[in-house]
Formats: sequence, structure tokens, C-alpha cells
Amino acid sequence: MKTLKKNEILKDLPTKRLNLDIFSEVDSTNDEAKRIDIQKDFHVIIAEKQTSGRGRQGKKWSSPDSGNIYMSICTENDLSSMPISMIAGLACKNAIDKTSGQALIMLKWPNDILLNSKKIGGILVEMESDQKKIRTIVGIGININIKKEESWWGDLSEFGLEVKRNKLINSILSEFIKISNDLNFNWLNEWKNSCIHMNKEIMLENTNSFQKKGIFKDIDEKGNAIIETDIGEEIISSGEISIKGVY
Ligand code: BTN
Repeated sequence: MKTLKKNEILKDLPTKRLNLDIFSEVDSTNDEAKRIDIQKDFHVIIAEKQTSGRGRQGKKWSSPDSGNIYMSICTENDLSSMPISMIAGLACKNAIDKTSGQALIMLKWPNDILLNSKKIGGILVEMESDQKKIRTIVGIGININIKKEESWWGDLSEFGLEVKRNKLINSILSEFIKISNDLNFNWLNEWKNSCIHMNKEIMLENTNSFQKKGIFKDIDEKGNAIIETDIGEEIISSGEISIKGVY
């Protein structure tokens, strides 16, 4: 496994606008991103391992193995014109597809990254604010090579997708910066084209264990899901969906 290399990760990126810290181990790159002092537009934290990696909906994000991607992109710029977690998912999809040379990655609402119907990555966006600033932290976890006992989850290697980790991180950052700079970027069309469950039957769940069956009809410009249930079309802003045949 190749180590994380700062010069490869930052290659051709606007380093005047970007700081990068690499750790061999942290509690969570998102937590580290809350502690730092941000001096440029973007500050990126990457770790080889996390001792308290966190996922969405209060879940744990298992991160004991080196060789995967655990990173957080942190900014105090105003990114409120686009749903940032959806943009981050798209940036990861585009970067993996470009780096592997194959367009195989699909997205599951709100921000799961899938390969061959298995989850290989996810995104945890968190906000921190004081009176003056809002800090947005975009935590990205991508499994490149995980232990086999966790193999109900996917990773990039098991499907023969050859990706070089430093190059992939470089490409994710490049895509993320490009998209977040472009206020006219049509993220919604791109997202819908990569969505694995459009017009399919889904089960929606949220943290209060509330469950609802419906057809996933659309996504609106705020990133909400539009789901047709037995009481009509409902706009859903958060939750977890499950689809038959997709992990
Ligand atoms: C999900 O539940 O799908 C989101 C997972 C996000 C995991 C990443 S790994 C880097 C960053 N640090 C964390 O503690 N979580 C995110």
C-alpha cells in the first residue's frame, strides 16, 4: 500500500487557496477539522486511521485499516447556494470514474457512493458556527481495500477497479473545488443521471425509526427527496433509504 504523499495529493491544485494536513491517526478527521484554525479557503485533513470515525445518523464509521480514504474538507466560505453533501457525492463519483477510467459509480440519496450496488463510501457534512462564521466540514470516507469480514460492504479493489489513492484524493479535491466555485453548475441533472433508485420502490427511515414505503420520484434543487407515498408526494429532507438488491 502506497503512503499518503502531500506533493501528489496537491499536484496542480490551487495551493494558495488550500491547506492540507496528513495524520497517521486521529479520532475523526471531522473532529480535527473542528479544532483547527482555518487560514485559506479550504483546509483538508486526511488520516490513515481513525479511532472514532463517525457516520451519518449517529453510526460508527469503521476506520482501522490503512489504505482507505478518511478525509475532511473544511471551509468558512459560504457554500449555501448548493446542497453541499450532494455536491461532495458527485465530486467523489466523478473523481473515481475519471481515475479508474470507467463510469461505474452510482449514487444513493442522500450521499452514499455505490459500486455494483454495494456501498463503498459515504459523506458526513457537519456545520459549526459562532457569532461571526459558519464552518462547513465535509467528511468523506471511501473504502479502497477493506478486510474481508466486512465484505457485505464493498470497496474499490474487489471489483478490479484500479485506483491510485493519492491520485484519487487529488481528483476529489479538484472536482470539489471546481464544482463549489461554479454557481451555475447543474449538479441536479448530473446527480439524477447517477442515481440508482429513480422511480424505484424504496423504504425510508429516519433516526426516530419512522418508516415509510414509497416510490422515489425526484430530487429538488435543495437536495430533498420527493417520494410518492399512499398519501401523495412528500418532500423529505433527511433520512436513510433502502432499496431491494442494494446494500
Ligand atoms: C456515512 O455514514 O455514510 C458517512 C460516513 C462518513 C465517514 C467519513 S471518514 C472521514 C470523516 N470523519 C469521520 O469521522 N467521518 C467522515
